[in-house]
Amino acid sequence: MAALLPRRARPRMRRLASLAEALLTPHGMDRYLELIDPMLVRREIRGVVTEVRHQTADTVTLTLRTSRAWGGFTAGQYVRVSVDIDGVRRTRCYSPANSQHRSDGLLELTVKADPQGLVSRHLHENAAPGMVLGLSRPDGGFTLPERRPRRVLMISGGSGITPVLSMLRTLADERHVGRITFLHYANTAEDVLYRDELADLAARHPAVRVVFAYTHARGGELRGFFSAEHLEAVAPWYREAETYLCGPTPLMDSVRELFGADGLSERLHTEEFAPPVLELDTENATGQVRFTHSGREITNTGRPLLEQAEEAGLRPEHGCRMGICFSCTKVKTTGCVRNAKTGALSTEENEEIQLCISVPVGDVEINC
Ligand code: FES
Repeated sequence: MAALLPRRARPRMRRLASLAEALLTPHGMDRYLELIDPMLVRREIRGVVTEVRHQTADTVTLTLRTSRAWGGFTAGQYVRVSVDIDGVRRTRCYSPANSQHRSDGLLELTVKADPQGLVSRHLHENAAPGMVLGLSRPDGGFTLPERRPRRVLMISGGSGITPVLSMLRTLADERHVGRITFLHYANTAEDVLYRDELADLAARHPAVRVVFAYTHARGGELRGFFSAEHLEAVAPWYREAETYLCGPTPLMDSVRELFGADGLSERLHTEEFAPPVLELDTENATGQVRFTHSGREITNTGRPLLEQAEEAGLRPEHGCRMGICFSCTKVKTTGCVRNAKTGALSTEENEEIQLCISVPVGDVEINC
């Protein structure tokens, strides 16, 4: 709308908007604007789905137009995506797969449906054009340095392709002249995400080499799981390169082990999160923890609820165990828990909490 206004009128409009925002406190203007159109919000970041495609049977790729508060991202970062499922807001982290320089400003997320994953299954089954998702500001330090490395090796597996593909597309948009090898692992050719785009990108950029390795089928340039032989075959210069890695844990572990043995850990970049310092008081813990869905019960040990649930024989969905990904979020039906990262107390009934960083304060009931 601002683009249609004469330049002289814009500061006045901004002042009027701030005044309206102040007058509409505590709900803020967004609560009223969203009644007209959820994408009119000024402060919250949202994305409306404009396109949905299923590249493989168990994934969904969403293209999103973002609301005006979105300020872009750096390739390799992640965003927290929120969606309402049965009236409860659920949040998970996903890394955009598009170039950070994408000219139309759209955001592309590819989500793999985890059989245990509430949000990923919901998006896989229900995402359609017009669906509105909540987004956070981008976060994470898994990014390329400002001064781009001359040689880059990217290794990914499965849906871990998204942050490294974003880096590759970004470098391609920057017409990076250095050598890049993109080594991607999948079970079979049918499981490869972005296969045609990668082949096309390699064809258009002579310095980019894309190698597919299939762990369970023939037909790729390489076969089987990651090994020193694979590395020597596709990037014998890897000792002089910067390597960016994202994929399932076994792949990450074997690449780390090899680079560690080679004394190259500093040149290997992965999505690393610093574990938070949790304030725990196991000496003075009191109360009973009841997991209502399963009917299990345990005496509060003062440890995070995710650990207590596991001690009780449960296997709640989780990811980072550090309070970042939100995949361990459950509803606390009654009682009080303390966020061991921030110290904040949750005392309300039916409040969502993150099991991995929440500790009970006395008796609690968790819907788990
Ligand atoms: S927030 Fe990631 S497992 Fe709890």
